[in-house]
Amino acid sequence: MENGISPEILQAKQRFSIIGNSPALLAAIERALQVAPIDLSVLINGESGAGKEFFPKIIHNYSARKHNKYIAVNCGAIPEGTIDSELFGHEKGAFTGAISSRKGYFEEADGGTIFLDEVAELPLTTQARLLRVLESGEFIKVGSSTVQKTNIRVVAATNVDMRKAVADGRFREDLYYRLSTVYIAVPPLRDRGDDILLLTRKFSNDFIEKYRTPAVEFDESAKSALLAYRWPGNVRQLKNVIEQISLFDAGKKVTDEDVRYYLPDAGSDYAPVRQQSTPLSHTYENEREMLFKLIFELRKEVTGLREEIADLKKQDESVPVGSIKELQKEISSVLPVIYNKNIASPVHRIFQDESGQDMTDAAATRTLEDTEKDTIRKALERNEGKRKKTADELKISERTLYRKIKEYGLDNI
Ligand SMILES: Nc1ncnc2c1ncn2[C@@H]1O[C@H](COP(=O)(O)OP(=O)(O)OP(=O)(O)O)[C@@H](O)[C@H]1O
Ligand SMILES: [Mg+2]
Repeated sequence: MENGISPEILQAKQRFSIIGNSPALLAAIERALQVAPIDLSVLINGESGAGKEFFPKIIHNYSARKHNKYIAVNCGAIPEGTIDSELFGHEKGAFTGAISSRKGYFEEADGGTIFLDEVAELPLTTQARLLRVLESGEFIKVGSSTVQKTNIRVVAATNVDMRKAVADGRFREDLYYRLSTVYIAVPPLRDRGDDILLLTRKFSNDFIEKYRTPAVEFDESAKSALLAYRWPGNVRQLKNVIEQISLFDAGKKVTDEDVRYYLPDAGSDYAPVRQQSTPLSHTYENEREMLFKLIFELRKEVTGLREEIADLKKQDESVPVGSIKELQKEISSVLPVIYNKNIASPVHRIFQDESGQDMTDAAATRTLEDTEKDTIRKALERNEGKRKKTADELKISERTLYRKIKEYGLDNI
């Protein structure tokens, strides 16, 4: 025993790179290890971003099924029309486009474990099929009349209140009981105390390595701000915040003020946690990625411009000083965006959107490119197509803007 933590738990933590020593987290890991060798269904429940995905892996890897397949299925990401066929397979000709028969995951993973993530999203018809396979090991491919057998252990996860889903008629009660033979609650980050600081250190080390930025130091006030925050998006949100700090505050001694800058509702009384925050977090991820993509492109451009200057200087003594000056001006115009908080306004806007009210599913499924295209189109329209003004507003160089306009076919604005 080290720090009162059993060697088994320490080993599992190490194996899956799980950070944290809070009693609630350790209890959840211990429970997963205890039930792993017993062939029961397990339901993992916890808020979005809390770290549910480690648990089915622990359960599979510490069970007798570990040498067989482990298949993770995100039930929320598969269209209703195809989910039965994905899970249970189909016969040739079962529906338009079924040109050959196909094995489903329940056949594919025979002898292994299936992780049904976002299980509450399963349509009711699929729930009926799932109940049957859990009770008897039997299933029928779509378009077939032959009953097949499989031997699968199911671990399911959700961030919704399943009792409410049952009460609302969205989830079969019998299936709920069947799935939750064993129940594991993953604690929200706000209840894990100093784990927040351990995770902060881990993520900031990871990101300075990834982005090769100078280390960030968190002073005592910054630590208090991190500890006091409510973290509605849990570990995923903390990771995102540390990623941004590692980029935008690289090399700084970070204070509480710096930290709060990245926390959407830090100033107010902490709003109640929103269950079902998935669409919002997806939108947020898209915007964040867009921002990072822009930054990296800008960095690439700076390198390109520097090379151009070097080439010009080397090539021709008679290059007018003006053109070098022009390039240098361009570099200095993008540098603040890359290294400073001039990028602040877009970051801030993202957070405001994140804490805003209902966003539609359509917004959630928009791609990164859509978001970027839209941002650029709107800025162009606002500036009546003027390239220079638009580039200034977006805080990107005109070169980037021209390239993006071409890429997205926005030439007509
Ligand atoms: N204790 C932890 N140590 C290290 N990383 C963690 C920990 N908990 C979560 N993470 C990281 O946080 C992110 C979110 O975790 P995960 O995907 O498991 O969340 P989730 O509970 O499945 O959320 P959702 O309900 O939105 O799917 C992942 O990148 C994961 O690696
Ligand atoms: Mg998940």
